[in-house]
Amino acid sequence: MTIQTAEFVISNANVEKCPAHDRPEYAFIGRSNVGKSSLINRLTARKNLAKTSATPGKTLLINHFMVNKDWYLVDLPGYGYAKRSKVEQEKLRRMIETYLDKRQELTCLFVLIDSRIPPQDIDLDFIRRAGNKGIPLAIVFTKADGVKKSQLPQNISRFLRALKEDWDELPPHFITSSAKGSGTDKLLDYIEQINNSLG
Ligand code: GTP
Ligand code: MG
Repeated sequence: MTIQTAEFVISNANVEKCPAHDRPEYAFIGRSNVGKSSLINRLTARKNLAKTSATPGKTLLINHFMVNKDWYLVDLPGYGYAKRSKVEQEKLRRMIETYLDKRQELTCLFVLIDSRIPPQDIDLDFIRRAGNKGIPLAIVFTKADGVKKSQLPQNISRFLRALKEDWDELPPHFITSSAKGSGTDKLLDYIEQINNSLG
């Protein structure tokens, strides 16, 4: 799929205020600093569409972007950043949870996983809970440029094996690097395929 246009639409703390629409909506979630905002920039080939930062906790709102004047990407705040105050952590946790519970427009949730490290319980728990809510999801491994070529497949299969303990059928997965731009074509193809199936 070619990206012709990608525009920021709106940021919201309140899910109820997010734009109502009847187009496909794809949201990006994952631990703080896993590379959600960077991936959105890479997918849309817009360097500064979503705000990124080397320090965790950059994205604090629900950010809607419109692509090709036809469908939406959503950049969500990350989970699991322990250095926040308890109040702030709870606020973000609730924002994410409410988005997942209430957002009828959500077509597919992309859960981002750092490909450089062993499976983390916080990610496995998150995926389990989202799965139990019946949300269609796909796994996106990030930062594939940051791990040895020989180690990458091992990390991926370890994570998928851990997931298999909860799932009869594994969700689709993608391996990406926003730094190198790898894997993003496949992700866009997947989005296009869903868009086409929805008409
Ligand atoms: P929060 O908004 O804080 O939850 O973080 P985020 O998940 O949106 O992460 P963000 O895109 O801001 O990236 C966090 C850091 O990871 C930045 O320093 C990015 O440059 C870096 N990063 C993102 N993607 C990649 C990648 O593919 N490879 C490498 N090496 N670094 C990356
Ligand atoms: Mg972010």
